[in-house]
Amino acid sequence: MLDLQLDVPAGGGRREALETALRRSIRSGRLAPGAAIPSTRSLATDLGVSRSTVVAAYDQLVAEGYLSAARGSATRVASLRSPTTPDEDDDLFGPTPLHDFRPGEPAAGSFPRSRWLRSVRRVLNDAPDATLGYADPRGIDELRSALADHLRRTRTVVASRQAVHVVGGYGAGLGFLAETLRRRGVRRIAIEDPMLPMHVHTLRSAGLETVPIPLDADGIDVDLLCAADVAAVVVTPAHQYPTAITMSPRRRTEIIGWARDRDAWIIEDDYDGEFRYDRRPIGSLQGLGPDRVVYGGTVSKSLSPALRLGWLVVPEPLRGDLLAVINIRAGVSAVDQLALADFLQRGELDRHVRSMRGVYRRRNDDLRTLLARSAPWLDVGAGEAGLHLIANLRSAQLDEATVLAAADAASVGLLGLVTHHRSTAAGDGFAIGFSRPAEHHFAAALDRLGEVLSAL
Ligand SMILES: Cc1ncc(COP(=O)(O)O)c(C=O)c1O
Repeated sequence: MLDLQLDVPAGGGRREALETALRRSIRSGRLAPGAAIPSTRSLATDLGVSRSTVVAAYDQLVAEGYLSAARGSATRVASLRSPTTPDEDDDLFGPTPLHDFRPGEPAAGSFPRSRWLRSVRRVLNDAPDATLGYADPRGIDELRSALADHLRRTRTVVASRQAVHVVGGYGAGLGFLAETLRRRGVRRIAIEDPMLPMHVHTLRSAGLETVPIPLDADGIDVDLLCAADVAAVVVTPAHQYPTAITMSPRRRTEIIGWARDRDAWIIEDDYDGEFRYDRRPIGSLQGLGPDRVVYGGTVSKSLSPALRLGWLVVPEPLRGDLLAVINIRAGVSAVDQLALADFLQRGELDRHVRSMRGVYRRRNDDLRTLLARSAPWLDVGAGEAGLHLIANLRSAQLDEATVLAAADAASVGLLGLVTHHRSTAAGDGFAIGFSRPAEHHFAAALDRLGEVLSAL
């Protein structure tokens, strides 16, 4: 007889418990598709429950499609279900290093919890019941207006409420844009080389062919872009990811000229443009060409990636097609949108960014000092911006993999340019983030990084 390893408690709720245990066994693959399960009579005896309890549980699972029953033969596990990975093995991001210098996330402990909570409380108290229905897929009016004001003021974006689409993070917005462009007949899209691999995947998943274009000290090479036969491009002008290059004024003019000449679209990923330490933040590319640039932003660096809140500022000709693509898939909580609108209107985001700018400026300085001292074989890039810096290997004796292995052994998280981006365009080196460690741990994490690098 099949060992079901069922743990059915005595007392009430035995039928539900039996159903749950059977479902779990089937989902985990312990009960294979096609396997015969015990008769209701023998299982009832085995478990010490009434036969009617087992009959009811089997009936329920047949109705849900987990079991199949045919008159005159044994009840079996339905063959349609494929076994899934057990939940325990489902760690998508892998272990977090103790001393985490990978780029990508703000210090989690810095999230302004109590002030965010105050905004959530306020908006939930004040919002009319209608707010709890399906929201406008472009975003709720309060947030679209607040974002238009904020982006005009802080990022020189040319924005009206009508141009703003709220999305579940820039990454989701990029996916929607890629589908929109594809529907409009775009086949090939240029990307910076190197670029965040996840976003390349997003573009390709929408059916676009990605065309990598190299960078020089001024940003993406517009001569090569002109020769590339593409109808759109994705760029990170404020602080290129991962090379940390800021697109020069001349290059900005050239790329806008390219887009106007070709009727092409530029997608501007302004993921960390609020953070600049050597001067005031550099304005958006969109401000120079609002007719050809879709501007994208996010709270993932300024507040938290867990909120999944981002925005697109969209030229009028694309809005209808974008809305048709997004429709009900927008998937951004109206309560969170209202909270962000309140947070913006009260100046809380400005205050938080201002205070984090001070923290990150100091961390950037401390990291540069440490790298100069303990790794003179690294060429550290100039960009005084964002939440990471770039450091290229100039030693013939060391390669990226050796440094990464040493860092990994000491639980120091680093991100290798070639390893991570599968591109040799940036050369061997590292994107070193300085935002992730908790404030109280930053000095100790720097010490550990210094030990690892000095020992090489
Ligand atoms: C280059 C780049 N763009 C955008 C983002 C933000 O994306 P999202 O708003 O989906 O979190 C990130 C986050 O890591 C990034 O590295």
